[in-house]
Amino acid sequence: MTGKAANQSEGGIGIIGCGHLGRSLAEALIDSGYPKEMLRVSYGGSSSTLEKIKKAGLLENISDNYEICKSSAVIFIAVRPQSVECLRGLSFSGSALVVSCMAGISRASLKEMLGIDVFRMMPSSPDTIDKRLGIAAIYPRDDALQEILSLMGLRVYELLDEELMHVFTVGVCLPAALLVAEKMGLDLSQCVHDFGRKYPDFEEICSWARGVRPSFYSDEARDEYIRRTSTKGGITEAMIDSLNSGCTFLRAIERGVSRSKEIASKRGPALHLRS
Ligand SMILES: NC(=O)c1ccc[n+]([C@@H]2O[C@H](COP(=O)([O-])OP(=O)(O)OC[C@H]3O[C@@H](n4cnc5c(N)ncnc54)[C@H](OP(=O)(O)O)[C@@H]3O)[C@@H](O)[C@H]2O)c1
Repeated sequence: MTGKAANQSEGGIGIIGCGHLGRSLAEALIDSGYPKEMLRVSYGGSSSTLEKIKKAGLLENISDNYEICKSSAVIFIAVRPQSVECLRGLSFSGSALVVSCMAGISRASLKEMLGIDVFRMMPSSPDTIDKRLGIAAIYPRDDALQEILSLMGLRVYELLDEELMHVFTVGVCLPAALLVAEKMGLDLSQCVHDFGRKYPDFEEICSWARGVRPSFYSDEARDEYIRRTSTKGGITEAMIDSLNSGCTFLRAIERGVSRSKEIASKRGPALHLRS
């Protein structure tokens, strides 16, 4: 690492929430040459997660959230959005670069809860990060964060507006929706082009999604992948339901963006009510 990224990460990197995403980030950091002894990770106490942390070779990196906040200069928050309350009461240093990977929780809500300005990051799925084919959007832009993520093998998109996180979230959910659309024989190029006129990075993200989606030896294996990646009530499911009900691919993408906004608006007020 050079310049700002080196200065920042020399203070140690912490990952609050060493689940699927947290472990992928930890492994990508270590593979990029980051000194393992400088990395701290935490988890919620479940024995199955502990087993996975052990299997990933991160047992000696386990710390707790208070220690991570006290001693790390870069902190990735990778707990689920529904666990966000576990961050309340933690004392983050004003000089730390704190990066929330939680989908749908705005910077304003986090500022109100934690009292600091947090960066937001929306990465693609852990399996794409593991294969060094991951992409990530960040907001706002920051050179040190950009460099750390690039070294981890992620292609970084610096968003100009936080609202664009919704479009990017749809982008990282595209591999399964593309499989459904193609199974139906839909022509995607015009839709992707039309949507790309509003969101210039979208065509490139679609090409990425085509490149990372797995190939299948049978229709059953493909359908099983689509089922597995569609969380109930989530964005992928919204897009796939839209396609199955006869909508165009463009309409399905728009439905995905609306679903991302709906999920976020339910999380926002919930945070305010508790604060
Ligand atoms: N997975 C993806 O594809 C993806 C993509 C983009 C963004 N994200 C975002 O990344 C976040 C994590 O997703 P995930 O799929 O990695 O979920 P996950 O596998 O459930 O990981 C969440 C981790 O947080 C830990 N945790 C819970 N309470 C904690 C606490 N008080 N202190 C420290 N750690 C705690 C959990 O530990 P226990 O298991 O012990 O409870 C678990 O290991 C979410 O906010 C999601 O929106 C995920």
